[in-house]
Amino acid sequence: MLNTKGASIGKKTLFFIIILSIGFYGGYKFFAPTSEVAMVKNALYRSGASGKALLNQTKEFTGQVFEVKDGDLIMDAVIKAQPGDLIRVYPGTYSETVYVDKSDITFQGIVEGGEWPTLDGKTTLNDAFLYSGNGIHIEGFKITKYKGNGIMGQAGNNFVIRNNWIVDTGVYGIFPQYGKNGLIEYNTLTGIEDAAIYVGMCDNIDVLHNEVFGNVAGIEFENSRHCIAENNNVYDNAGGILAFITPGLPIKTTYDIIIRNNFVNENNHVNFAPPGSTVAGVPSGTGILIMAADDVIVEDNIISGNNNVGILITDFPNGGIKASRDPEADPNPDNVTILNNLMMRNGADPIDEIKVLMKTLFMKVGPDILAIGKGSGSAILNREKYVTFGIGSYGNPTKTTSYGVKTFLLDKPAEHRDITKKQLGEFTYYGVCAGCHAFNTRLIGVPTNVIQAIHTNNPQGIVDYINAPKNLREDYPEMPPQSHLSEEAKMAVAEYILGLKK
Ligand code: HEC
Repeated sequence: MLNTKGASIGKKTLFFIIILSIGFYGGYKFFAPTSEVAMVKNALYRSGASGKALLNQTKEFTGQVFEVKDGDLIMDAVIKAQPGDLIRVYPGTYSETVYVDKSDITFQGIVEGGEWPTLDGKTTLNDAFLYSGNGIHIEGFKITKYKGNGIMGQAGNNFVIRNNWIVDTGVYGIFPQYGKNGLIEYNTLTGIEDAAIYVGMCDNIDVLHNEVFGNVAGIEFENSRHCIAENNNVYDNAGGILAFITPGLPIKTTYDIIIRNNFVNENNHVNFAPPGSTVAGVPSGTGILIMAADDVIVEDNIISGNNNVGILITDFPNGGIKASRDPEADPNPDNVTILNNLMMRNGADPIDEIKVLMKTLFMKVGPDILAIGKGSGSAILNREKYVTFGIGSYGNPTKTTSYGVKTFLLDKPAEHRDITKKQLGEFTYYGVCAGCHAFNTRLIGVPTNVIQAIHTNNPQGIVDYINAPKNLREDYPEMPPQSHLSEEAKMAVAEYILGLKK
């Protein structure tokens, strides 16, 4: 594991892997076996406790097989492929964006003699895989040097993203948006500027056995329901595992989240998110963050050495978010249940606000758990095991284990879902632009109605500007380029903005 993986992602990472693997886990084999045989075998016919409809595909494979070799384009195979086909990609370097708007296509990277098929964006391309089809499986790829996303899904249901290496792919590593019934497992992600694994506006997603380190946020559930993060190794990010609501999005809730059996250690990386992004405000040193999410269970994790706090539970106002931004989003975290966890050495160097709290409580060590702000129905088991602040209102849990739920994957595949151009524009506007632009008031950027006035009937003008913004106004900062968005999303958001009424 150390040789093949470490060597190709640079010295610094290698160092972390060695220190953390040897130092903390003492040879425990966290990562799944990735021998070629295993890789090839498990692609289509994997069965297991967690799989259900996605994995128990015992029916005979009748599709066509396409082989893509070094020097070919994966996209050429996609153009020819029909639903049910398998695209096998051999070791080599592929510098392209793979757009998949068909359904039921499997991409299988073949690893031979330690050589992986590598998608290299050469720091100019935006996305490695961008799919909108349903039933997409992507596994066995190394993906590096993209500016936007490693693997992004727009509305595709029933996906599997497994056993990929995603290194330095800009804003997000694996980002299914608005998808249902998906499995993200055995991936390794590092060097991502925002969230490495970003589950946004999704339902029924299992995030299992991933290794995420050296990112701003490790694993993030945003405006998503029925999701589990289990058996992941999450370390050296600014924030480890996050479950929260972002106000203003078309989907308003995050609930029914299980965070179980993860290592969440030493998430003390500096926060290198671009200002204005959702996670720029996450304080470095935060193991788990729960903001405004409901029905969250945290069980059997090892959470240690996170210098700000092990678990931070907060409402919008204390998370630095104005609740008035979205009256339809409930600002409070309700029914959070902390069960058995092993927590130690957290809170060694918390942010100033927490230091002030510590002073008032005459505490010398920072908290394993800090709950701040409103919320009701929350509970904690064996509270005396942890250093805690602010959980006075927490009761004793009525439920003492979450193991009744093994997976949130569905028994039958979810119905196919497609996204309209208008929805794509809406999601992009609220997910990306609305952090800085509001309709008729000044935020970080100019009001959206001013943009409408300047670019009336000219969506291309907006696209050109967001590709390469110029600082036009003395009293505003320069807007960061949004060139990481797909061409489709840029045009969709431009048209959406021009049609916005309030
Ligand atoms: C991190 C904050 C931020 C984000 C995110 C952001 N903007 Fe901006 N935007 C700004 C600022 C600041 C300005 C004003 C810049 C200036 O006038 O110098 C601006 C100005 C603009 C303008 C005005 C250009 C003109 O001709 O006057 C457009 C158009 C625009 N943004 C579109 C977008 C779109 C579309 C998105 C989402 C895809 C977006 N912005 C995301 C901060 C942001």
